[in-house]
Amino acid sequence: MVTGGAGFIGSAFVRLLTKGLSPKGAVPVVVDKLTYAGDLKRLEEARGKFKFYKTDICSKKQIERVFFKDKPDIIVHFAAETHVDRSIQDSTPFIETNIKGTQVLLDASRKYNVKKFIFISTDEVYGEISKGKFSEKSAVRPNSPYAASKAAADLLTQAYIRTYKFPAIIIRPCNNYGPWQFPEKLIPVAIASVLKGGKAPVYARGQNVREWLYVDDCARGILQITQKGKIGEIYNLGSGIESKNIDTVRLILKYLGASQNRFEFVKDRPGHDLRYSLNSTKVRREIGWKPKISFKEGLRLTVNWYLKPWGRSLSKSGE
Ligand SMILES: NC(=O)c1ccc[n+]([C@@H]2O[C@H](COP(=O)([O-])OP(=O)(O)OC[C@H]3O[C@@H](n4cnc5c(N)ncnc54)[C@H](O)[C@@H]3O)[C@@H](O)[C@H]2O)c1
Repeated sequence: MVTGGAGFIGSAFVRLLTKGLSPKGAVPVVVDKLTYAGDLKRLEEARGKFKFYKTDICSKKQIERVFFKDKPDIIVHFAAETHVDRSIQDSTPFIETNIKGTQVLLDASRKYNVKKFIFISTDEVYGEISKGKFSEKSAVRPNSPYAASKAAADLLTQAYIRTYKFPAIIIRPCNNYGPWQFPEKLIPVAIASVLKGGKAPVYARGQNVREWLYVDDCARGILQITQKGKIGEIYNLGSGIESKNIDTVRLILKYLGASQNRFEFVKDRPGHDLRYSLNSTKVRREIGWKPKISFKEGLRLTVNWYLKPWGRSLSKSGE
């Protein structure tokens, strides 16, 4: 069962599963409420190869009905409210879906003796770090309402592991980018703003640093951890590729063939974390995963994907 399988990363994971990578005979069951962020178009190429339930993970009744019918062995839990700025406007749906929804899934999984529960957490649970990297042993110190709600669900999962010997694994990926991302986060917003003839908005002076992972590399990492990861463990899933927001936007402008001045600094996000950075030695050593797509290649693939509806392809300066 893949919750949030119609979202950005969840759909990349389902597309990967339906390329023959799920265990023999297993049909992925996608559970998604289809909020503004969910879109079944992302699963068009996997049509006929998965089951779908339009279901709210906060509804114990709806979720238990799916568990009863399909008896899933493995749950990979992506469903969440994910946009930090929205969580600053109103944290209610974040508390509901990210915390309560996770609790509903954990309890249903216990009741139906699920074999493995993979919780997709985030690097944002650690808070910001000016130097060095967070390891899986670092303290959880979230700063935004979004990150706090993810940290609560992450800790609840840890509590179930300890209290009930619940068979869960926690994965903390860094920032993802790639095709199909809803245009409210830095990279798709920058691309879409320029394509519409405007300027890419950049918070403050663009000095915030993010670690960037191409979405297909992330999906493959999650699948490998699901197959080989140790129950009860936490795995950071980072690329090691860090970039200041202003540099990321400048690369995008280059690939779009737009002037390097087509951006504008906008008022900073309150409480904005300066830098995230993960130590991902554990996943590389124990699981044997490493990203395949470089940042430049990933950005080119992403820009190209967003250009398609405009009937264009990469500019000459973007090669
Ligand atoms: N995008 C990133 O950079 C990133 C980085 C680290 C971790 N994560 C985590 O990965 C997961 C997926 O992120 P994403 O970027 O694909 O998110 P997304 O916003 O693109 O997709 C979220 C999906 O969850 C669904 N959903 C929301 N509320 C629901 C509910 N109550 N019941 C059922 N479905 C519901 C939405 O319809 C959507 O399809 C999230 O848990 C997020 O916290 C994301």
